[in-house]
Amino acid sequence: MFTEKQQEQILDLMRDCGRLMLTAHGMSTVDAEVHFKPGAGNFVTDYDLAVQTKLIEGLSVIVPGARFFAEEKENSPALLKDAYCFIIDPIDGTTNFMHDMKASVISVALFYDERPVFGAVYDPYGGELFHAVAGKGAWCNGQPIRVSDRPMEEALVEFGSSPYDRQVLAKRSFAIAAALFDKCVDIRRSGSAALDLCFIAAGRAEIFFEARLSPWDYAAGLIIVNEAGGKLTTFSGEPVSLSAPSEVLCTSAALYQAVKCEIEAVLRQ
Ligand code: IPD
Repeated sequence: MFTEKQQEQILDLMRDCGRLMLTAHGMSTVDAEVHFKPGAGNFVTDYDLAVQTKLIEGLSVIVPGARFFAEEKENSPALLKDAYCFIIDPIDGTTNFMHDMKASVISVALFYDERPVFGAVYDPYGGELFHAVAGKGAWCNGQPIRVSDRPMEEALVEFGSSPYDRQVLAKRSFAIAAALFDKCVDIRRSGSAALDLCFIAAGRAEIFFEARLSPWDYAAGLIIVNEAGGKLTTFSGEPVSLSAPSEVLCTSAALYQAVKCEIEAVLRQ
């Protein structure tokens, strides 16, 4: 049984980790040491590692025996089977973090045997804590949130450029962005997929897509968006994987079919 007390403890731990992220910023640059990961422009800072360690230590006490599928460690799909498993991204938007863009978040999702239990995303810069409990709803700073019902011509599109796989995916990503730009009010690229998904859940934007994301980028957002009445799938409408990279299409309920058709039309060209 996952209790309300455990939820509150997780949210407190995330606020604590947010305070740690904020200590990284001096005047205009981050004092973090940077390490390189495979893929173009794929970085990890000491802060990603420190936040991940703090999260794993704290979450292990809050949900004893839980497993961890996390960005800065080795993972295997078996971790998700027959047990509580946290999927975590200590800093989603690491490139923003390194550039002191103040658009990076902490993302924590809890599944039991691949079934959603709880998801939370904390933006320490904006002071916004989004969370959702499976079957119970989604909130931002304690206030209920819901996807918007704006029509396509008023919709705001957010997208990710899949920077680490740009050689293969850039053409496809920008073709989809161009097609949607033609139909919608405007385009945004925040640099944090987890935050983008929360904005859909809160009705601030209506459409998000990225041609390749890792489960820790979208696991918490998936639970928050579903609980706020939105939809999140692959481009062709399949459930996203929790253990392997996936395409992500996320929209308000009203726009899902139309956007999926637009994307499929671009991919057929
Ligand atoms: C990245 C961000 C970015 C998205 C990348 C992700 P990271 O996550 O979510 O918006 O475009 O594909 O990998 O690497 O900063 O945790």
